Amino acid sequence: MNDSNEYVYLDIKTLFNFMKDVFIAAGVPEADADICADVLIESDKRGIDSHGCARLYMYYMRIKRKQQLPVTKLTIVKETPGTIRLNANNGMGQVASKKAMQIAIDKAKKNGIGMAIVENSNHFGIAGYYVLMATKQDCIGMCGTNARPSIAPTWSVEPMLGTNPFTFGVPTDWDFPWIADHATSITQRGKIETYARLGKDAVKGWVIDENGNAATDSKQIITDMLKLKTALTPLGGIGEELGGHKGYNYATFVEIMSACLSQANMLQACLGLDKNGNFVPYNLGHFFIAIDPAAFCEIDAFKKKTGDLLRQLAGAKKQPGASHIYVAGEKEYLAYQERKRTGIPISRVTQRQFLKMQRELNLVQYDFAFDVDPDEEDVTGW
Ligand SMILES: NC(=O)c1ccc[n+]([C@@H]2O[C@H](COP(=O)([O-])OP(=O)(O)OC[C@H]3O[C@@H](n4cnc5c(N)ncnc54)[C@H](O)[C@@H]3O)[C@@H](O)[C@H]2O)c1
Repeated sequence: MNDSNEYVYLDIKTLFNFMKDVFIAAGVPEADADICADVLIESDKRGIDSHGCARLYMYYMRIKRKQQLPVTKLTIVKETPGTIRLNANNGMGQVASKKAMQIAIDKAKKNGIGMAIVENSNHFGIAGYYVLMATKQDCIGMCGTNARPSIAPTWSVEPMLGTNPFTFGVPTDWDFPWIADHATSITQRGKIETYARLGKDAVKGWVIDENGNAATDSKQIITDMLKLKTALTPLGGIGEELGGHKGYNYATFVEIMSACLSQANMLQACLGLDKNGNFVPYNLGHFFIAIDPAAFCEIDAFKKKTGDLLRQLAGAKKQPGASHIYVAGEKEYLAYQERKRTGIPISRVTQRQFLKMQRELNLVQYDFAFDVDPDEEDVTGW
């Protein structure tokens, strides 16, 4: 597909304002809409196209059909000096998560380590946003969430576990923190949605069908996934030979941390549909951990040593043909440098969704130069 036909670029400020206005018009209080739009724009700025503005319509639809609430009443279920358990009461995942991570950071600053869990929540966007909060405040951050059932356990074809990102952020003396932010599946649903939007096949090995064969038709995969007929493979892939069982175990740990310390749903209960196919709340769980390096050593010495470690890795002997050894967070940092200049690419499906939301919410102040039909069929299955 020709990229120049596929994308229209919007500047970061306009895109942020539009997303915030959509959230406000959908009933999200202004301060919370600011948080939701900020999480999405961070994804777009970092080049993570699957989880930024491309997901705005998903949240809008979930609010519209009353599957999740626009107002987030965050309540404390249990608290100790180092820990807190919060109930998001089916509100916005981004709002509950940002507040939860800040509490974990505040506790870490007092106790060396802090942890927050959230139950009764919804999709929180990129996990990287929350560990970035920690690194900006000179803490190590870790977080994870469960999600709709997608990953099959090793030797199964049934989607049981969410794509369950297990995400880490560490402050460094580089221009950016070390942020390892990814799913525990080889790929994640959002990327297949992007492929479906672009009309591209999924890579062989990302997905197995009911018969244990590799499925590659990305549009079909999205449809089948909702019916639990296809599954993503865990990190390491199918079987044990390339370590699929290790990815399966990491995804399981994230599920345990997200759901078993609280009353959050787990595994296939996170589908967002009841037995009759009616939309029901997801009741997802998340966890957030902050560690203050200053509890162990001097912060600048820590950042310098972490930076040295990354310099050694990046300076390792290269594979023949390779031009660069990356460290985690680097590609996203580079993407942001470029996107500050180019703006954010908006795909045709996202353009259609923007026009639909603009029309329904009467956001007449925006004049998008999108040459698409807002009523054309959507392939995402939200
Ligand atoms: N909320 C949810 O339910 C949910 C579920 C799954 C994923 N996600 C989000 O989706 C996003 C994308 O996830 P993904 O699994 O597609 O990520 P991905 O496979 O694109 O990996 C991205 C991560 O790998 C690092 N990376 C990339 N190339 C590298 C290299 N050569 N060397 C070292 N590090 C490298 C990046 O810096 C980044 O940290 C993440 O932000 C994640 O939090 C959210």
